Amino acid sequence: MDAHNRYVALVTGATGGLGTAICKQLAADGYRVVATYKTWEKAEKWRLQMQESGLQFDMYQADVADFEGVGKMIQAIEQEVGGIDVLVNCAGLTQDGQFRKMTFERWDAVIKVNLYGVFNCCRHVINPMIERGYGRIINISSISAQKGQFGEVNYAAAKAGIHGLTKTLALEVARKGITVNTISPGYIATDMVLAIPEEVRNKRILPEIPVGRFGGTDEIAALVSFLASPNSSFITGANYAINGGQHMY
Ligand code: CAA
Repeated sequence: MDAHNRYVALVTGATGGLGTAICKQLAADGYRVVATYKTWEKAEKWRLQMQESGLQFDMYQADVADFEGVGKMIQAIEQEVGGIDVLVNCAGLTQDGQFRKMTFERWDAVIKVNLYGVFNCCRHVINPMIERGYGRIINISSISAQKGQFGEVNYAAAKAGIHGLTKTLALEVARKGITVNTISPGYIATDMVLAIPEEVRNKRILPEIPVGRFGGTDEIAALVSFLASPNSSFITGANYAINGGQHMY
């Protein structure tokens, strides 16, 4: 065991495409990885898949949109696994559609999971991190927040809100040994992107990506790995675009 093993990393939305790659990478880095999930049906399949690849994670259930539920989960993790050193807020969902047709329910559901979810998890881990004088928080946003995306007013608003939270929280905890950063992936080959109608995906989105391909989940996980490490202590409040050149600024 190397010294790294004392670090505990909590990954929300662990069973999704990005979450899975992040869990695997952090496990390879030597973290004890706690994976959160919303529904056991999907999580159970995921647990078996991970087991087949020789990986075992501590798994905890919470709907990230539920403030009280997240609080109970984080308290249980702190007691049963140990203090959370790294939080990766990766839980997210899309409910795309043009604004002129968007229902309140679709707006509300996406804001609650993608934005309130980040607040809820950060809020419950931050005081224990401050007490221990160390922490790494990595919030997964999106290119849609940076450039806008036809059909994603709810998702873009929530994901843009995340970076406002990142910058402000980063300021407030900068002297406490805690860094807070955002990663804004572009179009990564996950189920979420594959769910975009094929015609839109291949005829509209792919041609906009200068490198000519969708990104790999491991390419996001590699940056999470660096930002989670003690070596990244001078980086805080930053927003990293990983989008194959689709949006440069
Ligand atoms: N730019 C401009 N116009 C677009 C467009 C685009 N990118 N995509 C669709 N349209 C237009 C079509 O041309 C069509 O226009 P007309 O009516 O004038 O012919 C219209 O939108 C289609 O309207 P519909 O009524 O058929 O469909 P809708 O209102 O339900 O919306 C949509 C369609 C949901 C926006 C669909 O086009 C879509 O899914 N687009 C992809 C959205 C997207 O990129 N989502 C990313 C999901 S992955 C993710 O978010 C991860 C991440 O972080 C990047």
